[in-house]
Amino acid sequence: MGKDVIVACDFDSAEKTFAFLDQFKDRKPFVKIGMELYYAEGPAIVRELKRRGHKIFLDLKLHDIPNTVKKAMAVLSRLDVDVCNLHAAGTREMMEAALEGLTRPDGTRPLLIAVTQLTSTDQSRMERDILIREPMEQVVIHYARTARDAGLDGVVCSPLEAGRVHDACGAGFLTVTPGVRFAEGDKGDQKRVTTPAMAKQLGSDYIVVGRPVTAAADPVAAYERCLNDFVG
Ligand code: C5P
Repeated sequence: MGKDVIVACDFDSAEKTFAFLDQFKDRKPFVKIGMELYYAEGPAIVRELKRRGHKIFLDLKLHDIPNTVKKAMAVLSRLDVDVCNLHAAGTREMMEAALEGLTRPDGTRPLLIAVTQLTSTDQSRMERDILIREPMEQVVIHYARTARDAGLDGVVCSPLEAGRVHDACGAGFLTVTPGVRFAEGDKGDQKRVTTPAMAKQLGSDYIVVGRPVTAAADPVAAYERCLNDFVG
C-alpha cells in the first residue's frame, strides 16, 4: 500500500454513488464506504464496487463489547475489503477481539485501523463533552500506541498528528487522515484540517477526502488536484 487519495463516497444510494464514480471513467479511485452508504445499501454495494475494481475502505467505526465486535468483524471479513476500522476508545481488549474476528481461517485479513479522536472534535469539545482533559495530541498518541500494541495496522487521525504517530509507533504504522481541505475551501464540520500538500509534508500515508471532491463542480479535476498535491 503506497500513498494514495481515498474518496469518501458519502451518498445515500447506490444510484448516486455510481453516477458519481462513472464520471471517473476507467480510473478507479480508492473509495471509502461509510455509514450512510452502507446502511442504505448493505453489503451489496461493497461487492459491486469491488467488482468494478475499486479498493475499499469500509469505514463503519465499530465500538461495542469485545465479543460483539469480534463477531461483526468476522462477518465483515467475508466482504473482502482492503481496510476496515473501529474506535480505539473501545479499549485494547476490544481491538484484539476485532483482529481475531477479522482474521480468516487461512490467516489473511483486511487491514484494521483505529479511529483516535474524530477530526470534528477539538480540545474544548473533548474536555466539555467526554471529560478528557489531556492535550489532544497526547490523547491521539496514547490511542495510537494502544492500537499498535493490540496488533492493529494504523490509525485514523488528523494529518496534523501523522508525524507524531509515526514517531511513536513506527514509520510502517499507517496514518489515514481525513480533515483535508483545499486552501480556499469550506471547512464544514471539520476542525483539525490541512491541505493535501500539507498532509504530504506532515507524513500522512493516505488522505480521505469527501466533500472537497464529491461536492466540487468538477469532481474528477478536484480528485486529480488532490493526487497531484498529495502523491505528486
Ligand atoms: O467530507 P469530508 O472530507 O469532511 O469527509 C471526511 C470523511 O472522513 C467522512 O466520511 C467522515 O465520516 C470520515 N472521518 C472523519 N474523521 C475521522 C474518521 C472518519 O472525518 N476521524
